[in-house]
This record gives sequence, structure tokens and C-alpha cells, in this order.
Amino acid sequence: MHRRHAVKLAAAAVVAAMAGGAAAQGKPVKVGFMLPYTGTYAALATAIENGFKLYVDEHGGKLAGQQIEYVRVDDESDPSKATDNVNKLIKRDQVDVVVGTVHSGVAMAMAKAAKDSGTLLIVPNAGADAVTGPMCAPNIFRTSFSNWQPGYAMGEVAAKRGYKKAVTITWKYAAGEESVNGFKESFTKAGGQIVKELTLPFPREEFQALLTEIASIKPDVVYTFFAGAGAVKFVKDYAAAGLGKSIPLVGAGFLTDGTLEAQGEAAQGLLTTLHYADGLDNAKDKSFRLAYAKAYKLQPDVYAVQGYDAAQMLGIGLAAAKGDMSKRDAMYAAMAKARIDSPRGAFTLSKSHNPVQDIYLRKVVGKTNQVQGVAAKALADPGRGCRM
Ligand code: PHB
Repeated sequence: MHRRHAVKLAAAAVVAAMAGGAAAQGKPVKVGFMLPYTGTYAALATAIENGFKLYVDEHGGKLAGQQIEYVRVDDESDPSKATDNVNKLIKRDQVDVVVGTVHSGVAMAMAKAAKDSGTLLIVPNAGADAVTGPMCAPNIFRTSFSNWQPGYAMGEVAAKRGYKKAVTITWKYAAGEESVNGFKESFTKAGGQIVKELTLPFPREEFQALLTEIASIKPDVVYTFFAGAGAVKFVKDYAAAGLGKSIPLVGAGFLTDGTLEAQGEAAQGLLTTLHYADGLDNAKDKSFRLAYAKAYKLQPDVYAVQGYDAAQMLGIGLAAAKGDMSKRDAMYAAMAKARIDSPRGAFTLSKSHNPVQDIYLRKVVGKTNQVQGVAAKALADPGRGCRM
């Protein structure tokens, strides 16, 4: 080959690589799942990953024509390991996008790493208010909720039902505290009073002493945030302590989502608020449920929906960038103004990239969280502290 020709070819290859990024090189888009595959939230991790992959598989293993490849890290819901874990994905594996996580404390460390490195982060669960508040960033998106949202909706419901005195009980970490704060905000605005805030360290399940305290206080209502295996144990213990008959228990809907099989009789009749429910009358939900049940031999839950929508969100960004992950501005602009056709009902994002969505009131009937109505229509997290 003539030297002149070889130089030209090499130069053309460099230009193509620079202009085309992953698309021109035909490299797959690398998705890094950082999720709690072990511990009290393990089932939630599986549902999120299943939901994400279902959407990708429905599109032939691709998003916007780009092949998708996965790597995963188990974050164990441990904030002390979170920075190291997320850097395994960002620095070692050099993923194009991080999808995670469930636990709010871990998610805040991930948001910091995403902000510092400029890596795209899509949060498919963790509700940490700060992620779409003070830590908000152009490259951070959430397809789930803020901890404030379900709590705020339930505070209004509880006040409307005439309850005046509430006790709250949760794990002492961001998700529990912020969920309780949301409840407190609307409940006290409507004239209610929080008479006691009970907590225990995450992920402990020794509820007995706290249940005894609730029995002695005799509030009108108990508001709670628990999820995963801890929620199963709490609902069973509450019923076994005999409180179910005397003091109504309400909560953010995680209390009874993906848990009813294990909670059985103890959960019957519980009222919760969440951005998903059984018995929603929309076509997207019907097709999603059929496809999920067929693929995984399991019923989907809110976590599966959030994972599915994270894949939809990434697909919208990639399509706008014509499959080229280096076209960040086009990608993020499209994601920020997306209208996601979610099984929960369509939603858009607030300025701080958190879903603006209906929060449903649900009631446990058998193995389902039957929708009772909309508790808060198009509820937007206030995004306090977000400058973007
Ligand atoms: C959280 O830590 O933000 C969290 C965990 C589990 C849930 C919901 C929120 O079900």
C-alpha cells in the first residue's frame, strides 16, 4: 500500500471514531447495574433488572438500534461500600450508563460519583430527595419517585379519614426519614399531629419493643415505611401483636408491593399510597403484565415497572443521539422532556428529573394492591435545593 493512502485511511478511521462513538464502531452500549442482589432488598434488585431487560428484549436486545451489554455489581445496600462499588462500573468497566440503585444512602454516593465523572446515571428506585434536590445534575435521571411523594399523598389521605394523632415507625436512614417527613408535612398542614417518631437501624427487624410502645400510646393511626423482607416481617409482627384490629396501619406502598405472597392474611385490608397499583385500567399495563408474567413466570411489581421505564428512558435518549453516546446534549435534552408510556400511567419529568406522577390509594385484597382511586394527581416533588 502507498504510504499516502495508508495515512489517509488511518485519518479517516480516527475521524469516524470521533464522530460516531459507539454507533460508528458498532460497539454495544454498556449498561452497568448497581443493585442490592443480596440482603433485605434482594427481591427488588431482581425485579428491576428483569423489568429493564424485558423492555430491551422486546426490542430484539437493542435500544435505538444499539446492541445492549450488561455488567453488574452487588451493592449490598451498604453505603460504606458505595463509592468503591460505583467506581468499579465507571472506572474499571467503563460503562456508558449506570442503572441503580434501591437504597437511598447508596444512591447518594452514586449521584456524587456520576456528577464528578459525568457518567449518565438512571435511578430505577432509590427515593433519596437529594438526588433530584441539591445533588441534581444534567446527567442524573430518576424513573421511580422521591421519598417525599408517597408520604405526602398518605398524609392527606389520613387527615381526610379523620385521624388526628399519628405515630410513625421506620428504619433510621434517608428513605424512612424522608418518607415520614412527606407524611408529616401534609398531615400536620391538615391539622394532624405526630405524637411519636419511632425508628430502628436499617435493616434490623426487631420490632417487638416498638410495637409494645405503639400499643401503649394508642394513636389514631400508624404511618410506616418498610420495604422488601423487612416489610414482610413488620406486617406480620404488627398483626401478631394484635394491633391490626385496634390501630390502623398505613404506609408508603412499598410496605405491600412484591410482598403479599409472604405476608398473606396479615396484610389484608392495608391502605397504602404509591405510583403503581393492581387494577389500573390502561393498555400499557395490561401488555406489560402479560409479557412480564410470560418471561419470568412471576407477577410484576412497582420495582419491575421502574426498571422497565429506566430502559424506556435510555432508549429515548439513545434514539435522539442516533445511538451515539457521545452526543450528550441531544440525549439529555430528549430524556428531560420525555413522556414515558409507563405501565403506571404516562409520566413526564420535573425540572430536577424526577417523575411527575399520579399517586394511587391502594387497598390489599388477597394477593393484590387494588387501586381505590388517585390520592394525589400529577404530584411533583418540590425539588428543593436543585439548581440546574
Ligand atoms: C430507598 O432506600 O430509597 C428505598 C428502598 C426501598 C424501597 C423504596 C425506597 O422500596
